[in-house]
Amino acid sequence: MDVARRAEADPAFRADVIAGLSAPTRAIPARWFYDRRGSELFEEITRLPEYYLSRADRALLERHSGEVARIAGAGRAVIEFGSGSSAKTPVVLRAVSPSSYVPIDISGEFLRDSAAELQAEFPGLAVLPVEADFMHPIRLPEAVEAAPKLGFFPGSTVGNLVAATAVDLLRAMKETLGEESMLLIGMDRIKDEAILLKAYDDPAGVTAAFNLNLLHRITGELEGTIPIQAFRHRALWNDRLARIEMHLEAQCDLAFTVDGIGFSMKAGETIHTENSHKYGVRDARLLLKAGGWEVVEEWTDADETFALILAKAEPRRFAP
Ligand code: AVI
Repeated sequence: MDVARRAEADPAFRADVIAGLSAPTRAIPARWFYDRRGSELFEEITRLPEYYLSRADRALLERHSGEVARIAGAGRAVIEFGSGSSAKTPVVLRAVSPSSYVPIDISGEFLRDSAAELQAEFPGLAVLPVEADFMHPIRLPEAVEAAPKLGFFPGSTVGNLVAATAVDLLRAMKETLGEESMLLIGMDRIKDEAILLKAYDDPAGVTAAFNLNLLHRITGELEGTIPIQAFRHRALWNDRLARIEMHLEAQCDLAFTVDGIGFSMKAGETIHTENSHKYGVRDARLLLKAGGWEVVEEWTDADETFALILAKAEPRRFAP
């Protein structure tokens, strides 16, 4: 049993957890939230009344996909990064009428399920899923190599990265998509702190369950002995860095092992599990520019809750 579990554990997950728990400021990368249970809990979050992001993003897509299609032109291949359940994709596909659709996700199981659902909804469309980590440039299927591309990155997932990593990602996307490509990206706006805190600490406790599920994952996959009930979910607004942070806070002094390695925490100490950066209008433009993308058009709702941005790949420059 022990041996079987160890053989299954992802060595990158193990390395990140051990390094993250050993660091002076404990932190585990947010990408490890998304095992099957974590992905299901995230889908539940997107349906919460307090989690305005998904509704705002979807409403903007419904309102403006026609303009996106007009600006981007017909026949592009749509490449979705971190497609997950592909919940918003039909809105874009219907408007853009792409030549093909390539969903990219690191979670193969989830990817195959949602690709099959989309294929059933769009029988005439070539759906070509790619299981990969989109943080690095990806070789796309040969069938789409020659087509102009429209990258699709909804939901403000870019906000889960610190600026330097977000820029690396935007550059990797540009390399994946090619020089003539466009990118349709969602970015959450800075807003009232109370609204933000409710979105990341909902009264039904779904976000708490999503955060705590990481400890269940460590316990199950890495032979952890973590006393999960002694931790609580904490969401806070870090104004200086314009981001919501999620932490797992020890409620008493405690000790545990992961894969046989011992760790201890004092009451009140935390494991930092996620950042969700929010952007002002110029912040968003600057981030995209640093990543090699020029904003072509941007749309927001009446309350400026969320931004949907269409950008084009900047040509390589040899002078300032
Ligand atoms: C995936 N990502 C955009 C979500 C966010 O809002 O940062 C993840 C999330 N974390 C807690 N609730 C939702």
